[in-house]
Amino acid sequence: MKKILVTGALGQIGTELVLRLRKEYGIENVVASDVSKKESIVLEEGYFEILDVTDIKMIDDIVKKYNIDTILNLAALLSATGEKNPQLLWDINMNGLFNVLEVARENNLAVFTPSSIAAFGPNTPRTLTPQDTIQRPTTIYGVSKVAGELLCDYYYQKYGVDTRGVRYPGLISNGALPGGGTTDYAVHIYYEAIKQKKYTSYIAEGTKMDMMYMPDAIDAIIQLMEADSSKLIHRNAFNITAMSFDPEEIKESIQKYMTEFEMDYDVDSFRQTIADSWPDSLDDSAAREEWGWNPKYDLDSMTKDMLDTLGKR
Ligand code: NAD
Ligand code: SER
Repeated sequence: MKKILVTGALGQIGTELVLRLRKEYGIENVVASDVSKKESIVLEEGYFEILDVTDIKMIDDIVKKYNIDTILNLAALLSATGEKNPQLLWDINMNGLFNVLEVARENNLAVFTPSSIAAFGPNTPRTLTPQDTIQRPTTIYGVSKVAGELLCDYYYQKYGVDTRGVRYPGLISNGALPGGGTTDYAVHIYYEAIKQKKYTSYIAEGTKMDMMYMPDAIDAIIQLMEADSSKLIHRNAFNITAMSFDPEEIKESIQKYMTEFEMDYDVDSFRQTIADSWPDSLDDSAAREEWGWNPKYDLDSMTKDMLDTLGKR
């Protein structure tokens, strides 16, 4: 990666990704973009462009203007928001991705597109979900993720476009708030722990999902995009995970650092149904073997860092 365009850059991942890329690749080599401006630390320095991924000409113009060689395509709607407007989700997640891939084909670019644990469904093996297995998701978000994985592989096989991706679990961070996913409870719980010392979980006790702290999620993008292409057997998309827990386990982790913290439940059946259709834990051995994936944070080290960071703020 030499000249990088990030779409959806003011979102949960983009905010921390852009700051890290500017440090590692140079401020002049990173172009952040999003469909509109919102308050963000990303806008304080460096390049920023308004870019709607459903407009192919806008993507092409920006790629040519900055001589881009890699697009990190984060523009998307997430699971809960998308389920409320499937048509809009398809337009952004699928037509947007198609536009990015077409521009990449014409300009010889590499493309990173995140998939998700949502690419799996109720028929998928629930524990240690294999890299290659049944993918029959029941949300429009999951359908777009499976279709996106296939489309990215197609562009690699048919046109030689260097497409790579990971299946992210729920991501926990303290930069930008999450954008309307099912796993967002695992972020909100830390904010509420600092503010109120208590949290009401909309996800039920016993519901395990894979999770990851944002510094590891960002390492994954950089490591995978810089990996030796000849070592990649898979491309779109690699299972990656750092931990798997249910609400009780994250509560107990917080109580290790904040003994007075309390949690109760008010389960939201809409998001619970989505969570129930996803795996409990992924097998990420292909990512470990093919490009050296090795996350640094477990649940307790993430909890300590989240509480320290939010507490100071
Ligand atoms: P987010 O919702 O926080 O950010 C997405 C960004 O896309 C927003 O800033 C939004 O303004 C922008 N956007 C929306 N429509 C657009 C358009 N038409 N053109 C350009 N930008 C547009 O999402 P995120 O959490 O940063 O996720 C980024 C990617 O990672 C998505 O593909 C998502 O599915 C995937 N992912 C995220 C998680 C997670 O837990 N955050 C987990 C798995 C996969
Ligand atoms: N965190 C995401 C969501 O819940 C998973 O892709 O939608």
